Amino acid sequence: MGTGELSPALLPTKQIEKTLRSTFFDAHSLGYSEPKGDKRLRQCISVYLETKGINASPSSLMVVSGGLQALQLISVGLLQKGSMILHESPSYLNSVHPFQSAGMHLVGLSKQGHESIPTQMKRINGRKKASLFYTVPTFNNPTNTTWSKEERLNLLSLCKKEQIPIIEDDVYSDLWFDSEPPPPLKSLDADGLVLHIGSMSKTLSPGLRIGWIAGPITVIERLADIKMQMDYGSSALSQHLVAEWLATGQYSKHLEWLRQELMERRDFTLTLLNQYFKGLAEWQIPQGGFYIWLKLCKPIVNPNLFKQAIKENILLNPGYIYEPNNHTHIRLSYSYATEEQLAYGIQTLSKIIRRLV
Ligand SMILES: Cc1ncc(COP(=O)(O)O)c(C=O)c1O
Repeated sequence: MGTGELSPALLPTKQIEKTLRSTFFDAHSLGYSEPKGDKRLRQCISVYLETKGINASPSSLMVVSGGLQALQLISVGLLQKGSMILHESPSYLNSVHPFQSAGMHLVGLSKQGHESIPTQMKRINGRKKASLFYTVPTFNNPTNTTWSKEERLNLLSLCKKEQIPIIEDDVYSDLWFDSEPPPPLKSLDADGLVLHIGSMSKTLSPGLRIGWIAGPITVIERLADIKMQMDYGSSALSQHLVAEWLATGQYSKHLEWLRQELMERRDFTLTLLNQYFKGLAEWQIPQGGFYIWLKLCKPIVNPNLFKQAIKENILLNPGYIYEPNNHTHIRLSYSYATEEQLAYGIQTLSKIIRRLV
């Protein structure tokens, strides 16, 4: 229940095999790719982003080996040691450290406090200039919250005034259930403030290692240059496969199926929570994505709870991974475990928690 990836049963293995069997490569496509990545793939990503209201030409896009590499490139290529990074807390950034290991100073801003995020940003930026603001505005990891359109517009307006660039990490937005989420920040950005990150990891396969960054051409060219120095480009085979899936419509067909499967897993998990966690915890109904951010009624989320769960073969993602002082939350993922594992895990976890409470 701790794993933030698709279950093997949700990976379209057979269809991927079929694409690879029927595919045609010319010799050039198996050489080193251009710094920004395979041209056909960038054209396909550009068309795909257009469906989300994002206007990004192939030359303002680069292919990366997953969203995490996008963050590492930004950290190495655009920021200086000691830079102040603002981010929405709790945050995925605390669980992976692409900025901390490069010597950046992270400051978490909460969406739940009495001040809005733009107000907090303005106050902090008045004391020391922030280098950027990182956010996962749609189906956040770990909280699964989504910013409304109004919140997005307020954020953009403040960032424009204060001259704070935004990293929009948008790896979950294709995974909506009943209705499409509000438009991406990038589609509302008239001032070139937003670097938009996407990935195939949460929808098609994390092992392909294909993601992208959309942003101002000069920034993309700089990042592409650094990527060339790092790894000479992402896998030609993976780039080819993703281009094929986008161009033929197979990707959108797959998404329709995947959304339905994830929604069934969400409903199954909610039924279990209603059965075993009433009075022990609170939670919101996910409108998309992978996670339920479970808020326990007592602050008992600590290494002891983690160890007791491990003894029963349950791997949890405790809140303190994402926010050092958080001892009330657990991130439950319904995307990976089987129904049988979810039933065992949720029932057993409720017993452990009842004992501790
Ligand atoms: C918000 C967020 N961004 C980026 C990533 C990294 O994904 P990728 O496999 O594309 O590197 C993850 C994976 O958990 C994530 O949750």
